Amino acid sequence: MKIAIMGAMVEEIEPLLENFENVEKVEYAKNIFYTAKYKDLELVIAYSKIGKVFASLTASTMIEKFKCEKLLFSGVAGGINPELEIGDLIVAKKLSQHDLDITIFGHAHGYVPEGSVFVESDRKLISIAKDVATQKGIKLKTGIIATGDQFIASVERKNWIQETFNADALEMEGASVAVVCDALNIPFFILRSISDTADMDAGFDFDEFLKDSSKKSANFIIAMLDKISK
Ligand code: ADE
Repeated sequence: MKIAIMGAMVEEIEPLLENFENVEKVEYAKNIFYTAKYKDLELVIAYSKIGKVFASLTASTMIEKFKCEKLLFSGVAGGINPELEIGDLIVAKKLSQHDLDITIFGHAHGYVPEGSVFVESDRKLISIAKDVATQKGIKLKTGIIATGDQFIASVERKNWIQETFNADALEMEGASVAVVCDALNIPFFILRSISDTADMDAGFDFDEFLKDSSKKSANFIIAMLDKISK
């Protein structure tokens, strides 16, 4: 089984790569794809660069060129739901693009014709994640993630995203990866650890907690690989 594991930033994939020996590099589409073996799994690991366009390109490349059969995303997010504290993990049950707006034509936020406001993640991968969380005694929230090409550091915008999409967390890649995987029929899983709460302190908190939160997300993904390989 060939599995794609992606992040958006180098800090999000470094703690993944540390786990593997004999990692090889393949350059393609102005990016580097790291290949490794883990038990009976073949892995392709990459960071896309920030935002929906780069994330879509990387997800498509991992599926179409590298022939990955499942995709796992590991990274950080801004928390919306007050239950989520910095370092907590959230897995997306479904995702939406909060900055996709043709409401002038009477459509809902996040909707374009022939698309859908939300894209749902793979249930089996979520169920594996729940088992891992229970076994390891890790708090794991399942919720809605909203994605947009904006770093949110405003309570006003964060509240709007909460009210419009009922979102629990926000970030800048997940929903675009979801659209690609859904279109290409590839089961996907988006995991995020909270780095900030998208308020006026978000820029500072993000810099402060990016590394630690990325590691928490990466460690959880590694634990999931043990279950996926069985
Ligand atoms: N990823 C982590 N924190 C974020 C924020 N506040 N806005 C957008 N993406 C994020």
